[in-house]
Amino acid sequence: MELSKKAKTINPAITLALTSKAMDMIKEGIDVINFSSGEIDFETPDYIKKAGIDAIENFSTYSHSDGLKELREAIAKKLKTENNIKYNYDQIIVCHGAKQALNNAFFAILNEGDEVIIPAPYWASYPEIVKKCGGKPVFIYTQKEDLFKVNIDMLKEALTPKTKAIIINSPNNPTGMVYTEDELKNIAEFAIENDLFIISDELYEKLIYSNKIKHTSIASLGKEIYERTIVINGFSKCYAMAGWRIGYTASSKKIANVMANVQNHTTSSVNVIAQRAALAALTSKNPVLEDILNEFKKRRDYISQRISDIPMLSSLRPKGAFYQFIDVSKLFGATIDDVTIKDSEDVARLLLDKYRVCVVPCNMFGYDKYIRLSFTNSMQNIVEGVNRIEQFVKHNF
Ligand SMILES: Cc1ncc(COP(=O)(O)O)c(C=O)c1O
Repeated sequence: MELSKKAKTINPAITLALTSKAMDMIKEGIDVINFSSGEIDFETPDYIKKAGIDAIENFSTYSHSDGLKELREAIAKKLKTENNIKYNYDQIIVCHGAKQALNNAFFAILNEGDEVIIPAPYWASYPEIVKKCGGKPVFIYTQKEDLFKVNIDMLKEALTPKTKAIIINSPNNPTGMVYTEDELKNIAEFAIENDLFIISDELYEKLIYSNKIKHTSIASLGKEIYERTIVINGFSKCYAMAGWRIGYTASSKKIANVMANVQNHTTSSVNVIAQRAALAALTSKNPVLEDILNEFKKRRDYISQRISDIPMLSSLRPKGAFYQFIDVSKLFGATIDDVTIKDSEDVARLLLDKYRVCVVPCNMFGYDKYIRLSFTNSMQNIVEGVNRIEQFVKHNF
Protein backbone atom coordinates (compact mmCIF):
# COMPACT_ATOMS: atom_id res chain seq x y z
CA MET A 1 0.00 0.00 0.00
CA GLU A 2 1.54 3.29 -1.05
CA LEU A 3 1.12 6.42 1.04
CA SER A 4 0.59 9.85 -0.49
CA LYS A 5 3.65 11.11 -2.41
CA LYS A 6 2.74 14.69 -1.48
CA ALA A 7 2.35 13.89 2.22
CA LYS A 8 5.70 12.14 2.23
CA THR A 9 7.41 15.39 1.15
CA ILE A 10 6.39 17.01 4.46
CA ASN A 11 9.33 17.18 6.89
CA PRO A 12 9.00 16.41 10.61
CA ALA A 13 9.18 19.31 13.06
CA ILE A 14 12.74 19.20 14.42
CA THR A 15 11.89 21.96 16.92
CA LEU A 16 9.45 19.64 18.60
CA ALA A 17 11.76 16.58 18.42
CA LEU A 18 14.56 18.35 20.30
CA THR A 19 12.14 19.83 22.81
CA SER A 20 10.69 16.42 23.52
CA LYS A 21 14.18 14.97 24.06
CA ALA A 22 14.87 17.81 26.52
CA MET A 23 11.52 17.11 28.23
CA ASP A 24 12.41 13.41 28.57
CA MET A 25 15.73 14.38 30.14
CA ILE A 26 13.95 16.74 32.58
CA LYS A 27 11.55 13.91 33.51
CA GLU A 28 14.55 11.71 34.25
CA GLY A 29 15.70 14.37 36.74
CA ILE A 30 18.42 15.92 34.54
CA ASP A 31 18.52 19.69 34.97
CA VAL A 32 18.14 20.92 31.39
CA ILE A 33 17.72 24.63 30.63
CA ASN A 34 15.18 24.76 27.85
CA PHE A 35 15.63 27.63 25.39
CA SER A 36 13.64 25.91 22.65
CA SER A 37 10.06 26.71 23.54
CA GLY A 38 8.03 28.94 21.26
CA GLU A 39 5.49 29.38 24.02
CA ILE A 40 5.20 32.27 26.46
CA ASP A 41 6.02 31.21 30.06
CA PHE A 42 3.18 33.32 31.48
CA GLU A 43 -0.15 31.90 32.55
CA THR A 44 -3.21 32.95 30.56
CA PRO A 45 -4.58 35.98 32.49
CA ASP A 46 -7.33 35.15 35.00
CA TYR A 47 -10.04 37.23 33.33
CA ILE A 48 -9.55 35.17 30.16
CA LYS A 49 -9.57 31.88 32.05
CA LYS A 50 -12.79 32.94 33.83
CA ALA A 51 -14.48 33.62 30.50
CA GLY A 52 -13.45 30.10 29.45
CA ILE A 53 -14.90 28.59 32.64
CA ASP A 54 -18.12 30.52 32.16
CA ALA A 55 -18.28 29.25 28.57
CA ILE A 56 -17.89 25.63 29.75
CA GLU A 57 -20.93 26.13 31.97
CA ASN A 58 -23.09 27.89 29.41
CA PHE A 59 -22.08 27.14 25.82
CA SER A 60 -21.75 23.73 24.28
CA THR A 61 -22.93 23.94 20.69
CA TYR A 62 -21.02 24.54 17.47
CA SER A 63 -20.48 28.15 16.51
CA HIS A 64 -20.75 29.36 12.92
CA SER A 65 -17.87 27.58 11.18
CA ASP A 66 -16.21 30.95 10.48
CA GLY A 67 -16.29 31.65 14.23
CA LEU A 68 -18.61 33.32 16.76
CA LYS A 69 -20.06 36.49 15.28
CA GLU A 70 -19.22 38.47 18.48
CA LEU A 71 -15.60 37.35 18.27
CA ARG A 72 -15.30 38.19 14.58
CA GLU A 73 -16.82 41.61 15.29
CA ALA A 74 -14.31 42.17 18.10
CA ILE A 75 -11.42 41.12 15.82
CA ALA A 76 -12.66 43.48 13.08
CA LYS A 77 -12.81 46.30 15.66
CA LYS A 78 -9.28 45.51 16.86
CA LEU A 79 -7.98 45.55 13.28
CA LYS A 80 -9.59 48.97 12.76
CA THR A 81 -8.44 50.60 15.98
CA GLU A 82 -4.98 49.02 16.30
CA ASN A 83 -3.99 48.37 12.69
CA ASN A 84 -6.06 50.91 10.77
CA ILE A 85 -7.60 48.31 8.45
CA LYS A 86 -11.32 48.17 7.84
CA TYR A 87 -12.95 44.74 7.73
CA ASN A 88 -16.52 43.66 8.20
CA TYR A 89 -16.97 40.73 10.60
CA ASP A 90 -17.71 38.39 7.67
CA GLN A 91 -14.18 38.94 6.33
CA ILE A 92 -12.73 37.34 9.45
CA ILE A 93 -12.38 33.57 9.89
CA VAL A 94 -11.51 32.20 13.32
CA CYS A 95 -9.17 29.19 13.10
CA HIS A 96 -7.40 26.65 15.32
CA GLY A 97 -4.38 28.86 15.87
CA ALA A 98 -2.42 30.86 13.33
CA LYS A 99 -1.14 27.57 11.94
CA GLN A 100 -4.56 26.58 10.68
CA ALA A 101 -5.11 30.14 9.44
CA LEU A 102 -1.97 29.72 7.28
CA ASN A 103 -3.22 26.34 6.04
CA ASN A 104 -6.57 27.85 5.02
CA ALA A 105 -4.84 30.79 3.32
CA PHE A 106 -2.50 28.69 1.18
CA PHE A 107 -5.20 26.13 0.40
CA ALA A 108 -7.38 28.96 -0.85
CA ILE A 109 -4.83 30.62 -3.15
CA LEU A 110 -2.51 27.92 -4.50
CA ASN A 111 -2.75 25.73 -7.56
CA GLU A 112 -0.38 22.79 -8.13
CA GLY A 113 3.11 24.13 -8.84
CA ASP A 114 2.45 27.76 -7.84
CA GLU A 115 5.50 29.32 -6.23
CA VAL A 116 5.53 31.10 -2.89
CA ILE A 117 8.43 33.39 -2.01
CA ILE A 118 9.54 32.71 1.55
CA PRO A 119 12.18 35.07 2.93
CA ALA A 120 14.63 33.04 5.01
CA PRO A 121 15.15 32.59 7.87
CA TYR A 122 11.52 31.58 8.17
CA TRP A 123 9.23 29.89 10.64
CA ALA A 124 9.76 26.17 9.98
CA SER A 125 6.16 25.33 9.09
CA TYR A 126 5.82 27.78 6.16
CA PRO A 127 7.47 25.62 3.49
CA GLU A 128 5.70 22.49 4.73
CA ILE A 129 2.27 24.16 4.65
CA VAL A 130 2.98 25.53 1.16
CA LYS A 131 3.94 22.02 -0.04
CA LYS A 132 0.85 20.50 1.61
CA CYS A 133 -1.27 22.91 -0.42
CA GLY A 134 0.42 21.97 -3.72
CA GLY A 135 2.77 24.96 -3.85
CA LYS A 136 6.52 25.22 -4.25
CA PRO A 137 8.53 27.22 -1.68
CA VAL A 138 11.09 29.59 -3.20
CA PHE A 139 13.54 30.91 -0.64
CA ILE A 140 15.31 34.24 -0.47
CA TYR A 141 18.30 34.00 1.84
CA THR A 142 18.40 37.39 3.54
CA GLN A 143 21.65 38.62 5.04
CA LYS A 144 22.67 39.84 8.47
CA GLU A 145 24.02 43.03 6.80
CA ASP A 146 20.44 43.75 5.61
CA LEU A 147 19.10 42.96 9.10
CA PHE A 148 17.58 39.80 7.58
CA LYS A 149 15.07 41.77 5.49
CA VAL A 150 14.14 41.25 1.84
CA ASN A 151 14.52 44.11 -0.60
CA ILE A 152 13.10 44.60 -4.07
CA ASP A 153 16.22 43.39 -5.89
CA MET A 154 16.03 40.10 -4.03
CA LEU A 155 12.32 39.79 -4.82
CA LYS A 156 12.93 40.50 -8.51
CA GLU A 157 15.50 37.75 -8.63
CA ALA A 158 13.12 35.23 -7.05
CA LEU A 159 10.17 36.19 -9.27
CA THR A 160 9.09 33.76 -12.02
CA PRO A 161 5.88 33.45 -14.07
CA LYS A 162 4.71 30.90 -11.45
CA THR A 163 5.14 33.19 -8.43
CA LYS A 164 1.82 33.48 -6.64
CA ALA A 165 2.53 34.93 -3.20
CA ILE A 166 5.07 36.34 -0.75
CA ILE A 167 5.12 35.57 2.96
CA ILE A 168 5.88 38.50 5.24
CA ASN A 169 6.44 37.77 8.93
CA SER A 170 7.02 40.89 10.98
CA PRO A 171 8.03 40.85 13.85
CA ASN A 172 9.95 37.82 12.68
CA ASN A 173 10.48 34.39 14.12
CA PRO A 174 13.42 33.62 14.40
CA THR A 175 15.34 36.89 13.82
CA GLY A 176 13.18 39.41 15.71
CA MET A 177 13.44 41.92 12.85
CA VAL A 178 10.55 44.31 12.21
CA TYR A 179 9.80 45.84 8.80
CA THR A 180 9.32 49.61 8.62
CA GLU A 181 6.33 51.15 6.90
CA ASP A 182 8.51 52.29 3.98
CA GLU A 183 9.94 48.81 3.48
CA LEU A 184 6.44 47.37 3.48
CA LYS A 185 5.30 50.01 0.98
CA ASN A 186 8.02 48.84 -1.41
CA ILE A 187 7.01 45.21 -0.99
CA ALA A 188 3.36 46.16 -1.49
CA GLU A 189 4.18 47.99 -4.75
CA PHE A 190 6.11 44.97 -5.96
CA ALA A 191 3.19 42.65 -5.13
CA ILE A 192 0.71 44.91 -6.94
CA GLU A 193 2.93 45.30 -10.02
CA ASN A 194 3.39 41.54 -10.27
CA ASP A 195 -0.13 40.49 -9.31
CA LEU A 196 0.89 38.58 -6.16
CA PHE A 197 -0.84 37.73 -2.91
CA ILE A 198 0.74 38.70 0.41
CA ILE A 199 0.41 36.39 3.38
CA SER A 200 1.17 38.67 6.31
CA ASP A 201 1.88 36.76 9.52
CA GLU A 202 1.55 39.30 12.34
CA LEU A 203 1.38 36.92 15.27
CA TYR A 204 4.08 38.75 17.27
CA GLU A 205 2.78 42.26 16.52
CA LYS A 206 2.54 43.41 20.15
CA LEU A 207 5.95 42.08 21.16
CA ILE A 208 8.16 44.97 20.08
CA TYR A 209 10.80 46.35 22.46
CA SER A 210 11.10 49.98 21.50
CA ASN A 211 8.57 52.82 21.49
CA LYS A 212 10.27 54.12 18.36
CA ILE A 213 9.35 51.02 16.35
CA LYS A 214 5.77 50.59 15.29
CA HIS A 215 4.13 47.49 13.89
CA THR A 216 2.56 48.18 10.50
CA SER A 217 0.18 45.80 8.81
CA ILE A 218 0.89 45.78 5.07
CA ALA A 219 -2.86 45.51 4.40
CA SER A 220 -3.29 49.02 5.82
CA LEU A 221 -1.17 50.58 3.06
CA GLY A 222 -3.86 51.14 0.43
CA LYS A 223 -6.84 49.58 -1.28
CA GLU A 224 -4.92 47.54 -3.84
CA ILE A 225 -2.66 45.82 -1.33
CA TYR A 226 -5.62 45.33 1.02
CA GLU A 227 -7.38 43.32 -1.69
CA ARG A 228 -4.46 40.94 -2.16
CA THR A 229 -3.34 40.47 1.47
CA ILE A 230 -4.40 37.77 3.88
CA VAL A 231 -3.59 38.89 7.42
CA ILE A 232 -2.70 36.04 9.77
CA ASN A 233 -2.92 36.65 13.49
CA GLY A 234 -3.99 35.00 16.72
CA PHE A 235 -3.89 34.85 20.48
CA SER A 236 -1.02 32.40 21.10
CA LYS A 237 1.86 34.82 21.56
CA CYS A 238 0.42 38.16 22.63
CA TYR A 239 -2.24 36.94 25.08
CA ALA A 240 -0.37 33.91 26.51
CA MET A 241 -3.03 31.63 25.04
CA ALA A 242 -1.02 29.18 22.91
CA GLY A 243 -2.89 26.11 24.17
CA TRP A 244 -6.32 27.64 23.60
CA ARG A 245 -5.60 27.43 19.86
CA ILE A 246 -7.26 30.55 18.49
CA GLY A 247 -6.01 32.29 15.37
CA TYR A 248 -7.68 34.11 12.52
CA THR A 249 -7.47 35.37 8.97
CA ALA A 250 -8.62 38.78 7.72
CA SER A 251 -8.92 39.26 3.97
CA SER A 252 -11.10 40.55 1.15
CA LYS A 253 -14.58 39.03 1.10
CA LYS A 254 -13.75 37.17 -2.11
CA ILE A 255 -10.80 35.34 -0.50
CA ALA A 256 -12.69 34.92 2.81
CA ASN A 257 -15.54 33.12 1.00
CA VAL A 258 -13.14 30.49 -0.37
CA MET A 259 -11.32 30.11 2.94
CA ALA A 260 -14.68 29.74 4.70
CA ASN A 261 -15.48 26.68 2.56
CA VAL A 262 -12.03 25.22 3.23
CA GLN A 263 -12.51 25.77 6.96
CA ASN A 264 -16.06 24.42 7.03
CA HIS A 265 -15.07 21.06 5.59
CA THR A 266 -11.96 20.86 7.79
CA THR A 267 -13.57 21.64 11.13
CA SER A 268 -17.19 22.48 11.71
CA SER A 269 -16.20 25.18 14.17
CA VAL A 270 -13.33 26.13 16.39
CA ASN A 271 -13.85 25.17 20.05
CA VAL A 272 -16.47 27.66 21.32
CA ILE A 273 -15.05 27.71 24.84
CA ALA A 274 -11.71 28.95 23.57
CA GLN A 275 -13.49 31.41 21.28
CA ARG A 276 -15.36 32.92 24.26
CA ALA A 277 -12.06 33.21 26.14
CA ALA A 278 -10.49 34.96 23.13
CA LEU A 279 -13.46 37.34 23.07
CA ALA A 280 -12.73 38.27 26.69
CA ALA A 281 -9.06 38.81 25.80
CA LEU A 282 -10.03 41.30 23.10
CA THR A 283 -12.78 43.13 24.92
CA SER A 284 -11.02 43.71 28.25
CA LYS A 285 -8.13 45.98 29.04
CA ASN A 286 -4.96 43.93 29.01
CA PRO A 287 -2.47 45.13 31.62
CA VAL A 288 -0.83 41.69 31.64
CA LEU A 289 0.62 42.34 28.20
CA GLU A 290 2.64 45.21 29.64
CA ASP A 291 4.10 42.89 32.30
CA ILE A 292 5.03 40.36 29.62
CA LEU A 293 6.62 43.07 27.47
CA ASN A 294 8.65 44.52 30.36
CA GLU A 295 9.87 41.12 31.45
CA PHE A 296 10.75 40.06 27.89
CA LYS A 297 12.62 43.30 27.29
CA LYS A 298 14.76 42.65 30.37
CA ARG A 299 15.48 39.12 29.16
CA ARG A 300 16.18 40.33 25.61
CA ASP A 301 18.66 42.93 26.88
CA TYR A 302 20.43 40.41 29.10
CA ILE A 303 20.69 37.59 26.52
CA SER A 304 21.80 39.92 23.70
CA GLN A 305 24.53 41.45 25.82
CA ARG A 306 25.84 38.14 27.18
CA ILE A 307 25.85 36.47 23.75
CA SER A 308 27.68 39.39 22.17
CA ASP A 309 30.34 39.03 24.90
CA ILE A 310 30.99 35.35 24.09
CA PRO A 311 33.81 35.02 21.58
CA MET A 312 33.01 32.95 18.44
CA LEU A 313 29.26 33.73 18.65
CA SER A 314 27.62 36.68 16.96
CA SER A 315 24.11 37.99 16.98
CA LEU A 316 21.94 41.05 16.32
CA ARG A 317 19.75 42.45 19.08
CA PRO A 318 16.17 41.41 18.20
CA LYS A 319 13.66 44.27 17.93
CA GLY A 320 10.59 42.12 18.40
CA ALA A 321 9.23 38.59 19.01
CA PHE A 322 11.07 36.61 21.70
CA TYR A 323 14.03 34.91 20.10
CA GLN A 324 17.79 35.44 19.86
CA PHE A 325 19.17 34.27 16.52
CA ILE A 326 22.86 33.38 16.95
CA ASP A 327 25.55 32.71 14.35
CA VAL A 328 27.55 29.68 15.53
CA SER A 329 29.44 29.05 12.27
CA LYS A 330 32.82 29.90 13.82
CA LEU A 331 32.46 26.68 15.84
CA PHE A 332 32.23 24.52 12.71
CA GLY A 333 35.11 22.18 11.95
CA ALA A 334 36.07 21.66 15.60
CA THR A 335 35.96 18.10 16.98
CA ILE A 336 34.47 17.55 20.45
CA ASP A 337 34.27 14.01 21.86
CA ASP A 338 34.60 12.51 18.37
CA VAL A 339 31.89 14.77 16.91
CA THR A 340 33.17 17.10 14.21
CA ILE A 341 30.78 20.04 14.19
CA LYS A 342 29.45 20.62 10.69
CA ASP A 343 26.19 22.49 11.27
CA SER A 344 23.85 24.04 13.84
CA GLU A 345 22.24 20.68 14.57
CA ASP A 346 25.59 19.31 15.79
CA VAL A 347 25.97 22.40 18.00
CA ALA A 348 22.44 21.95 19.40
CA ARG A 349 22.99 18.24 20.02
CA LEU A 350 26.31 18.84 21.82
CA LEU A 351 24.79 21.62 23.92
CA LEU A 352 21.95 19.33 24.99
CA ASP A 353 23.99 16.17 25.55
CA LYS A 354 27.06 17.70 27.21
CA TYR A 355 25.89 21.03 28.68
CA ARG A 356 22.20 20.34 29.28
CA VAL A 357 20.99 23.35 27.30
CA CYS A 358 18.26 22.89 24.73
CA VAL A 359 18.39 25.33 21.79
CA VAL A 360 16.82 25.18 18.35
CA PRO A 361 19.13 24.46 15.40
CA CYS A 362 18.08 26.81 12.64
CA ASN A 363 18.53 24.43 9.71
CA MET A 364 14.75 24.01 9.92
CA PHE A 365 14.48 27.80 9.50
CA GLY A 366 16.71 27.65 6.42
CA TYR A 367 19.95 28.72 8.19
CA ASP A 368 22.24 25.94 9.29
CA LYS A 369 24.82 28.39 10.69
CA TYR A 370 22.48 29.65 13.40
CA ILE A 371 20.82 28.51 16.60
CA ARG A 372 17.76 30.12 18.22
CA LEU A 373 17.23 30.85 21.91
CA SER A 374 13.76 31.72 23.23
CA PHE A 375 13.34 34.23 26.07
CA THR A 376 10.52 32.09 27.46
CA ASN A 377 12.36 31.14 30.62
CA SER A 378 12.88 32.65 34.08
CA MET A 379 15.75 35.13 34.45
CA GLN A 380 17.46 32.67 36.80
CA ASN A 381 17.36 29.90 34.18
CA ILE A 382 18.44 32.31 31.46
CA VAL A 383 21.52 33.30 33.47
CA GLU A 384 22.40 29.64 34.10
CA GLY A 385 21.70 28.63 30.48
CA VAL A 386 23.85 31.41 29.01
CA ASN A 387 26.62 30.53 31.50
CA ARG A 388 26.56 26.97 30.18
CA ILE A 389 26.72 28.15 26.56
CA GLU A 390 29.67 30.34 27.51
CA GLN A 391 31.38 27.38 29.20
CA PHE A 392 30.78 25.25 26.10
CA VAL A 393 32.58 27.83 23.96
CA LYS A 394 35.33 28.62 26.46
CA HIS A 395 36.13 24.97 27.28
CA ASN A 396 36.28 23.79 23.72
CA PHE A 397 37.60 26.66 21.57
C1 LIG B 1 5.71 33.01 12.92
C2 LIG B 1 4.68 32.06 13.43
N1 LIG B 1 3.52 31.94 12.76
C3 LIG B 1 2.57 31.09 13.17
C4 LIG B 1 2.74 30.30 14.29
C5 LIG B 1 1.64 29.38 14.73
O1 LIG B 1 0.94 29.92 15.81
P1 LIG B 1 -0.28 29.21 16.55
O2 LIG B 1 0.28 28.61 17.78
O3 LIG B 1 -1.25 30.30 16.83
O4 LIG B 1 -0.83 28.19 15.61
C6 LIG B 1 3.93 30.40 15.03
C7 LIG B 1 4.15 29.57 16.21
O5 LIG B 1 5.21 29.48 16.79
C8 LIG B 1 4.93 31.31 14.59
O6 LIG B 1 6.09 31.45 15.25
